[in-house]
Amino acid sequence: MQVVRTRQSRLFRGSLLPLSLADLNELWQLDLRCFVDGEAYERETFRYLLSNPNTVSRQIRSAHNEMVAFAIAIVEPDGIGHITTVGVAPEHRRRGLARLLLLELERSLAARNVSTIRLEVRVDNSSAQNLYHTLGYSIVQRMGKYYSSGQDGYLMVKSL
Ligand SMILES: CC(C)(COP(=O)(O)OP(=O)(O)OC[C@H]1O[C@@H](n2cnc3c(N)ncnc32)[C@H](O)[C@@H]1OP(=O)(O)O)[C@@H](O)C(=O)NCCC(=O)NCCS
Repeated sequence: MQVVRTRQSRLFRGSLLPLSLADLNELWQLDLRCFVDGEAYERETFRYLLSNPNTVSRQIRSAHNEMVAFAIAIVEPDGIGHITTVGVAPEHRRRGLARLLLLELERSLAARNVSTIRLEVRVDNSSAQNLYHTLGYSIVQRMGKYYSSGQDGYLMVKSL
């Protein structure tokens, strides 16, 4: 067990670890709790991501060994890092966990020679947009009907 320092003056008793296929079911269940708007991933999408050697991932587990947050990115064939998903259990939000996970993913991507990261976010998801803005991501494009719900998305980009 370790104490995860999420940012100055904020501590979380838990562990920061990579994700593995052994985490598949717990990850899928947490994702369903995080994405209640029909945008949750299929279990098989997670299986694909966790099996892919180009994937980098992190999870945070509580002191009771429950997964409370996760983030996944993949290095695309063009060398761009793509943050595919990030989620934090509702009862653990606003403690800096997502920020910590994304900074960890950025470090891992940089170690794989990634210099640009992209991600997509729903235009009405202002909490996630705030998170990405604070980490230095910029909106570069609005993508019409990007989501299966028919909603538009923003493409956001950061140079490392
Ligand atoms: C978006 C999400 C991942 C943020 O996780 P989190 O651990 O609560 O975020 P953090 O505590 O690291 O927040 C870091 C910063 O992001 C911004 N932010 C995060 N949540 C916010 C909210 N609800 N409202 C406004 N700003 C918010 C703030 O600037 C915050 O810094 P502050 O707390 O010092 O003000 C979480 O709300 C979540 O899982 N949402 C559902 C899934 C989702 O939408 N994922 C993103 C898909 S693109």
